[in-house]
Amino acid sequence: MTISIEEIRKDFPILDSGIIYLDSAATSLTPEPVLNAIQGYYRNYNANVGRGVHRLTQIASQKYEDAHMQVAKFIGAKPQEIIFTKNTTEGINMVASGIGLKKGDKVVFSLLEHHSNLLPWIRAKNKLGVELEVVKPNVIPEDRDKTKCMLEISDFDEVIDERTKIVAITHVSNALGVMLPVKEISRLCRENNSLLLVDAAQSVPHIPLDVKEIGCDFLAFSGHKMLGPTGIGGLVVKEELMKEIEPLTVGGGAVEDASFVDYSLIGTYERFESGTPNIAGAIGLSAAVGYLERIGMEKVKAQEEKLGTQLIEGLREIEQIEIYGGGSEAFELGRRIGTVSFNVKGMNPNDVALRLDREAAIIVRSGHHCCIPLMKYLGLDAEGTVRASVYLYNTEEEVERFLEIVGLISKG
Ligand code: ALA
Repeated sequence: MTISIEEIRKDFPILDSGIIYLDSAATSLTPEPVLNAIQGYYRNYNANVGRGVHRLTQIASQKYEDAHMQVAKFIGAKPQEIIFTKNTTEGINMVASGIGLKKGDKVVFSLLEHHSNLLPWIRAKNKLGVELEVVKPNVIPEDRDKTKCMLEISDFDEVIDERTKIVAITHVSNALGVMLPVKEISRLCRENNSLLLVDAAQSVPHIPLDVKEIGCDFLAFSGHKMLGPTGIGGLVVKEELMKEIEPLTVGGGAVEDASFVDYSLIGTYERFESGTPNIAGAIGLSAAVGYLERIGMEKVKAQEEKLGTQLIEGLREIEQIEIYGGGSEAFELGRRIGTVSFNVKGMNPNDVALRLDREAAIIVRSGHHCCIPLMKYLGLDAEGTVRASVYLYNTEEEVERFLEIVGLISKG
């Protein structure tokens, strides 16, 4: 079944207000079926999960478990491997604090990381004496333009070694939209007996993804960037590692047995989900996954490639524009999504974003995108960039209008 863009847009009534929403990398819009699923929980079977036997808890518990199954299947994980978290940040913090890092361990990440995949590791350095190493393009010949920030496997080669406890990398840069070669990085990790954590906040919503194919140990993502509600996300922990990771919290719902002096935890995802979880959020996320599945992730990806190419090519034609991150050719290499960072030379990115909003109701993000070290690397630490990001509900007409207004703004 092919679902047309017109039909998709009907599910997002917020678009009726006349806005052009190009900020899905920050948070995506929420379709009606997701809103209905959340309401359905509160209206019809509002109860706690895994606690008691009454009729309402039976329905809620079943839906909550189904949500684990559906979300796990969507990314090729086993249902027992997916922990519901608050968001990607919480998932990464769970790993950073749970894997038993100690002095002398090396943690490797890249220059493209969001603060959420930096601060937990910097804290481990400060508190535990862990050593950090940042992967940057290790050679910058003429054809490796610094502003493209494309990292190759050769950049990781020298850095990942037998002292590397964990490699924690983003799959797709939230600031620039470029993709890292995660499968090759995974191979390097296996050769060196290192763990691999993938920050998939910007990949799970946009491309077909299978954790087994990637071969990672941990993968974190957020619901609100993939049509789901805020406050719910997922962390995949490889089954064989589940019992080795110390949970961030312990308490009700995670327990197999307890006395006044000791406890034992359940062996699967429940051990990490103590306390009443975000039940409505999980049910909403599951509905979002269902929505994406009905459209098909290959189609989502293709639509974004089309619009992303139009965006980049159009921006390239405007004289005053500087683009950061790989160009549209990176789509052909499978190394990009439709998130594009740029600046209008001589203009503050916040002013550009404000004018886009005021003059044409076009919504984009501006600033450092929670990537201050990357902005410093690019020499943009004072102001950052303007970032436009497309998703499945955007149209060619919207991108055309965006380009027209950017063209006008660039003329002063
Ligand atoms: N991480 C989100 C962004 O990139 C908030 O905008």
